[in-house]
Amino acid sequence: MLDARDNFQSAGWYEALERTVALTVAAEHPERILDVGCGTGYYLRGALAAVGDSARALGMDLSPAAVSRAARSSDRIDGLVADVWSLLPIRDGAANVILNVFAPRNAAEFHRVLRQGGLLLVVVPQQEHLQELRKAGLALDIQPDKAQHLTGGLAAHFTLESRQGLSEQLNLPAPAVAALIGMGPSAHHSGAVGTAPATAGTPALRAVTAAFDLFSFRRRDNTP
Ligand SMILES: C[S@@+](CC[C@H](N)C(=O)[O-])C[C@H]1O[C@@H](n2cnc3c(N)ncnc32)[C@H](O)[C@@H]1O
Repeated sequence: MLDARDNFQSAGWYEALERTVALTVAAEHPERILDVGCGTGYYLRGALAAVGDSARALGMDLSPAAVSRAARSSDRIDGLVADVWSLLPIRDGAANVILNVFAPRNAAEFHRVLRQGGLLLVVVPQQEHLQELRKAGLALDIQPDKAQHLTGGLAAHFTLESRQGLSEQLNLPAPAVAALIGMGPSAHHSGAVGTAPATAGTPALRAVTAAFDLFSFRRRDNTP
């Protein structure tokens, strides 16, 4: 999955999202960035490149292989293997920005490790995201009301500052479609939705919708 994710990301298919994330993070002029569910570290590297040289980052993930890959990819990224549902082994107020891209969230712990006034940037797929793959039986459904679920779950600890939609049509050659399937949750499932090796023979897809919502949440000061 990590190889597939690396291949797809390094080919630049989600570059528009990567750029938007980087600019949003850079506008905060952060010294410390925490990426929860960092995966390959793609979005974290982009953010660091857009921020001043003195900024440092911690890439956290449940997967040791992902953390290792992210930490080895940049000398400004340290790595932490941890479960987001546990008490995170991170100091109170250690980060100016928390990045959370297609990954689970722990509102109370994010509030604790974020500095006063800090930004939580969450990216989730829109309902239309990869709908052409779903119609072809090549991807899993997206949870309905994802955005509502997200804002409700964070409301006690964070104030929603902005929501930005990003949508484009990707003209994907077959290897990119295979990588896209292999890097997502569909890769875990058998049957019509194939495993990564079964993507050999995957068709090219001319117009695949990539659609994301970026939510900027500001840490509330007056929560328990
Ligand atoms: C869809 S991937 C996104 C990775 C990366 N943010 C990106 O967009 O390339 C979700 C990531 O969340 C991580 N993850 C899943 N459950 C987790 C948990 N309980 N604690 C920490 N990380 C978790 C996975 O290992 C995976 O790397």
